[in-house]
Amino acid sequence: MKAIAVQRGSEGPAVIEKPRPTPAEGEALLRTLRVGVDGTDHEVIGGSHGGFPEGEDHMVLGHEAVAVVADPNGTDLAEGDVVAPTVRRPPADDSNDYFERGEPDMAPEGEYVERGIVGDHGFMAEYFTSRPEYLVPVPRELWDLGFLVEPISITEKALEHAYAARSAFEWAPESALVLGNRSLGLLTLAMLEYGVESDRSFATHDFERTYCLGRRERPDPTVDIIDEVGATYVNSNETPLGTVPEAYEPMDLVYEATGYAPHAFETVEALAPNGVGALLGIPDSWEFEVDGGRIHNELVLHNKALVGTVNSHVKHFEGAVDTLGELPDWLLDDLVTTVAAPDDVEPAFEYGHDQIKAVVEFDRL
Ligand code: NAP
Ligand code: BGC
Ligand code: ZN
Repeated sequence: MKAIAVQRGSEGPAVIEKPRPTPAEGEALLRTLRVGVDGTDHEVIGGSHGGFPEGEDHMVLGHEAVAVVADPNGTDLAEGDVVAPTVRRPPADDSNDYFERGEPDMAPEGEYVERGIVGDHGFMAEYFTSRPEYLVPVPRELWDLGFLVEPISITEKALEHAYAARSAFEWAPESALVLGNRSLGLLTLAMLEYGVESDRSFATHDFERTYCLGRRERPDPTVDIIDEVGATYVNSNETPLGTVPEAYEPMDLVYEATGYAPHAFETVEALAPNGVGALLGIPDSWEFEVDGGRIHNELVLHNKALVGTVNSHVKHFEGAVDTLGELPDWLLDDLVTTVAAPDDVEPAFEYGHDQIKAVVEFDRL
């Protein structure tokens, strides 16, 4: 079967041939439909994040997938079920407490592998195998957008944790600022602007005023989407993050999806009293100067919180399925900028300003 992989010692992703996997006992065989590409994949390809499976000369890419059950292999799944796989697995199939209590997203490094990112092959292949507890049902009619369940689930988790950090008092947030205007930033902006009616989604609060910060000049397709969502575009070349409160207003929620390390600290300045900042970016080591006293003082005297959050698990995927079903069609159409075939994948890894979310399509329903 065809797979898209990074190989030790060579640059960029390549199409390789691999044997179709045989499901072990307790695993199902999945036929891949679509797999999305995000900033993390570019970090993995560039070598700044993640790592190869132990003892292997390559790693199959891809952690945002939608697939169909090809062979239930004795599991409770049925042939033809459409599913989105979660990303984390126990290291060397050796379970630990985090997995046993259904919170692998809270496991520290070393206590998990991530498919397509660190230590395990991903889903960018014609077939893959998985245990059923890592597969979340996706309604059949969403088969073509199901690869967005994983990135949406990342924000489901981030919002759960951010709101939990404000749950000890009456918090009535009105303003939200998203940092970053690619796929994660724009999906999150829409979730905050529209809110979702669902018991499973954590994105049920619709903010009265939403903003999205980027560093691009108009005209730009991502800024068009920000306008269409009804949010205010903040151009960080004119209005650096720390000056947002004077230029616009202090923010009740800041969601960082740039990976630009200074933003973690400037977020404290941008927050309103009692506000919370969720940090999602994954920067490399980077030294720079900050006014630590001021940041410390702001956090304390204004009851501000910063929450770092990574990955997600089943309940966040379930919330994400509901959220996906409620996001407007025009937005989802505009976000998907490339649908590439496995034997011509290069367009999926181009990352110019016209690219927002690329997918590799292995099969259709
Ligand atoms: P991405 O495609 O790399 O997007 C990053 C966005 O941030 C782009 O819009 C980029 O603008 C903007 N940006 C970068 N530096 C900036 C700066 N100095 N000022 C203003 N804007 C800036 O990544 P993504 O897939 O959307 O994900 C966002 C980040 O979250 C990445 O670091 C990714 O690794 C991380 N992530 C984390 C998790 C988690 O579980 N914590 C999950 C998914 C992703 P341009 O396009 O104009 O360069
Ligand atoms: C993935 C997460 C993963 C994180 C860190 C993100 O792009 O969506 O599932 O935990 O990268 O590797
Ligand atoms: Zn991702």
